[in-house]
Amino acid sequence: MTIQWYPGHMAKAKRQVLEKIKLIDVVIEIVDARIPLSSRNPMVDELASQKPRLVLLNKSDLADPGATEKWAQYFEKRGWASLVIDAQKGKGMNDIPLKVKELCQPLLDKFEKKGIRPRALRALILGIPNVGKSTVINRIANKRITKIGDRPGVTKAQQWIKVGKEIELLDTPGILWPKFEDQDVGFRLALTGAIKEEIFDFQETVVFLLNYLREAYPTMLKHRYNLTELPEDVADLFDAIGTRRGCLVSGGIVDYDRVAEIVFRDFRQGKLGKISLERPDER
Ligand code: G4P
Repeated sequence: MTIQWYPGHMAKAKRQVLEKIKLIDVVIEIVDARIPLSSRNPMVDELASQKPRLVLLNKSDLADPGATEKWAQYFEKRGWASLVIDAQKGKGMNDIPLKVKELCQPLLDKFEKKGIRPRALRALILGIPNVGKSTVINRIANKRITKIGDRPGVTKAQQWIKVGKEIELLDTPGILWPKFEDQDVGFRLALTGAIKEEIFDFQETVVFLLNYLREAYPTMLKHRYNLTELPEDVADLFDAIGTRRGCLVSGGIVDYDRVAEIVFRDFRQGKLGKISLERPDER
């Protein structure tokens, strides 16, 4: 598996994000709660190092709640605020303004000290594709987009969304690409829909998933495919699931492609249960 990000593309994405970051007081980084590290680009740490940060662990409806809780603590320990949300249903999102205000308190104090009437706090949503940036923005926007033009440093009119009275959100998110540190990161991104699955070898991706589930979620795996035992060898596991699901070709041989397809779709649709593909304590 090789995926090339051309330096030119990277530089352009970086430039665009930097332009946006200049305008704002706080960065709201969205990650996929099932893969909170694999779904972030560490470049954000460099780009947003000067800004307070709120990490939103989105798609929490699909993730293991115990692992998500630990991830929230992990980010807090790194000095960032965090919130567990489900943007599709709008869960946890009411606390966003409160957290933003908490994070910007030093700035508000500065305004007060200088006797300046505090202006609205400006926030930017940032994240890799498919983590739910648009879903979050649309939920917050609720048709409350206001056009605000002549701002220092704003060359063309930016659209800002009012969040309550005291916060404004830039309506276009900053997009960073995922970083493929190793093959496992790629598998996690393929399984959660952050990158097209066609880029990966489908069977290899499901082999990764089954090996992980056998260790981390054996009961869910047994339950879903009605298995009493989980064979050590992943090929035997394919055979067991294939036999249960009737994925047989002539001669009674299991059709591995079909098994891979079934397991992959089951995972994507959350049919195996609430599953996280990485945990902070594994690291
Ligand atoms: P992006 O702007 O960061 O690229 O992401 P976007 O909001 O477009 O969301 C990507 C997909 O994730 C959408 O599904 C969206 O409905 C889903 N999504 C966003 N937030 C949540 C959440 O909290 N829980 C769940 N379960 N899903 C969420 P889609 O359009 O159907 O795309 P796909 O699922 O077919 O990839």
